[in-house]
Amino acid sequence: PVLARGYHEKVISHYESPRNVGSLPKTDIDVGTGLVGAPACGDVMKLQIRVDDNGIISDVKFKTFGCGSAIASSSYMTERVKGLSIEEAATIKNTEIAKELCLPPVKLHCSMLAEDAIRSAIRDYRSKRSKVDVTQGTLS
Ligand code: FES
Ligand code: FES
Repeated sequence: PVLARGYHEKVISHYESPRNVGSLPKTDIDVGTGLVGAPACGDVMKLQIRVDDNGIISDVKFKTFGCGSAIASSSYMTERVKGLSIEEAATIKNTEIAKELCLPPVKLHCSMLAEDAIRSAIRDYRSKRSKVDVTQGTLS
């Protein structure tokens, strides 16, 4: 069936050519780093965002040590959040990823890693910014 084949190709593409693999400089003030693990299998996902002055995600990179579904989920997530505001990115659910990638129920936790990772990256970015704001407030 055409539909199933379409899904299949999208999934295969994220498996075979993951997008945005790599790292951003962790100490940059405009970079947020999320590092999460799946207790079920021990797989680990690192996802990093660079956020511009308007709160828009301008760059995204990931490194995932895990199964194919976790890698495909992170690849999909990086494409999904680029150009979004951090508020929008924080609302993305693992169920959306699982549906897009046609993950079977047993692989749901793999997509959960991607949801956890983007939220964790946003949290890290916000806590970095708030420290800067406090410092600037103290100095001025
Ligand atoms: Fe690794 Fe599921 S087996 S996340
Ligand atoms: Fe562990 Fe997928 S992340 S099986």
